[in-house]
Amino acid sequence: MLSLRSSMLRRFSLFGSNSWSIPHSHPPASTLMGVRAHGSWHHGRHARPRSSGGFAVTGSVPSMTSSAPITLGAATVGRGLNAKGLHSTAICGGPLADNDGSDVIAVGDSKRRNDRAAEAIAVEARYGAFNYAPLPVVLSHGIGAMVWDVQGTAYLDFLAAYSAVNQGHCHPRLVAAMASQAATLTLTSRAFYNNRLGPLLERLCTTFGYDRALPMNTGVEGGETAVKLARRWGYQVKGIPDNAARVLFARGNFWGRTIAAVSTSGDEGSFRGFGPLVPGFSQIPYNDVGALQAALEADPNVAAFMVEPIQGEAGVIIPDEGYMAAVGRLCRKHRVLLIADEVQTGLGRTGYMLATEHDGPDARADIVVLGKALSGGMLPVSAVLASDEVMGVLSPGDHGSTYGGNPLGAAVAGVALDILEKEELCASSVARGQQLRDGLTKLSQSGTRGSNLITAVRGRGLMNAFQVKDDGREGGTAWRVCVNMAHAGVLAKPTHGNIIRLSPPLVVTEEQVDTALESIKRALRATVQTKK
Ligand SMILES: Cc1ncc(COP(=O)(O)O)c(C=O)c1O
Repeated sequence: MLSLRSSMLRRFSLFGSNSWSIPHSHPPASTLMGVRAHGSWHHGRHARPRSSGGFAVTGSVPSMTSSAPITLGAATVGRGLNAKGLHSTAICGGPLADNDGSDVIAVGDSKRRNDRAAEAIAVEARYGAFNYAPLPVVLSHGIGAMVWDVQGTAYLDFLAAYSAVNQGHCHPRLVAAMASQAATLTLTSRAFYNNRLGPLLERLCTTFGYDRALPMNTGVEGGETAVKLARRWGYQVKGIPDNAARVLFARGNFWGRTIAAVSTSGDEGSFRGFGPLVPGFSQIPYNDVGALQAALEADPNVAAFMVEPIQGEAGVIIPDEGYMAAVGRLCRKHRVLLIADEVQTGLGRTGYMLATEHDGPDARADIVVLGKALSGGMLPVSAVLASDEVMGVLSPGDHGSTYGGNPLGAAVAGVALDILEKEELCASSVARGQQLRDGLTKLSQSGTRGSNLITAVRGRGLMNAFQVKDDGREGGTAWRVCVNMAHAGVLAKPTHGNIIRLSPPLVVTEEQVDTALESIKRALRATVQTKK
């Protein structure tokens, strides 16, 4: 605990000891009710110059017609916004190169530091548990692919709440659905029917081609539901002897933090000190068809294999072409259920509504778990999809959740699915993802200062990552790159050591991706300049 506290404090000081408040833009609340067209966000009005913390604020919010500079992180970018939203032509500010040789670049005058951010961090540190180590940026507004901190600095959000905000922050249609349903009926429990759940279940089944859907709230509850279904199916349908069912998981998996989820984890930080762990789970190597085959041949009591089509938390690990199809064929051959954890990969993130589609019909899972973007970031909504045969193993009282299937979540999720389709966000994901990977690859080969830090670029759709050179400290370089990216106006977070995940909302525009690439270039340069 002590080391965690000190590492949090050290990380806090990375930002806290250096001011990076500079004249910035800020969206007044009224501008957040924008409308979106042609894949971009437009805001109704300009921010008025205002005073904050003793200095004049001269920026403007993104606007269709604005020609004023936009401040992203520490860098002022762009001079114009057009019908495609943020249109950056150049990075024209941001003293990223003016480093003082410390771990993080000093930006601006420390006297200008906005205390609100420090206060927000301090109060969390005082009253919260120590289970997270966030980047020290305190966000207060968001729209589309952009977020603003309490100091009014704008950023491109290249994490999108771990792929929950695929439809973009505060999508006006989601806000409207949420507000309208919140004022009508929010929660009934499943003791009664509600008029919103049925239409959502129907939409889920027709969209994804499954017989039935079971609503829950968080992604991990979806995973728990899938495992319970598989075990019950194993006993009732496959004929596995009582309490002998085994569920296989791929090494490197991440599906949440409950006792069952951490019992399947190979990550010591997840399970150490939380024993005794849940029995009946085994791990096999990811992306290894032979290992799955051997495990299935060795044990007739395997009920299911649960796997992410692309491993997210493990560092955006993409299996070999055809892996999921081979897994599907093997599972069918051995009468084992294939559970696809699509909580992160689903709903357009990889360019498909389901990432398994990439591998064709053989990869179709028996059970699909969806979450995160199913509500577009509004509230926790997850769902499990399966056939009549699998879902039929449940009877009243066997499984459920007070909030699962609530009319508020159901109304929002229906609109969230509609947005993905109507705005063709799968196609956007493919195009913007390719642009991002091409740009990163070009940058890694460019010879510009810091570009050689990039050792690998990978991804599918807008689920991407780049790897940076290991400096001997677990994640040390990646953390510093992310801090410098924040200074340059792009928010991202390291995952697993030296891997930096890039997963912006699927509404991110071409210009915003270009802006982000420019910011990453600057952040890499700053990282080598400040390296000790
Ligand atoms: C693949 C995958 N499954 C499940 C989960 C758990 O979702 P939640 O945090 O909503 O419980 C996550 C969360 O990151 C995930 O990435």
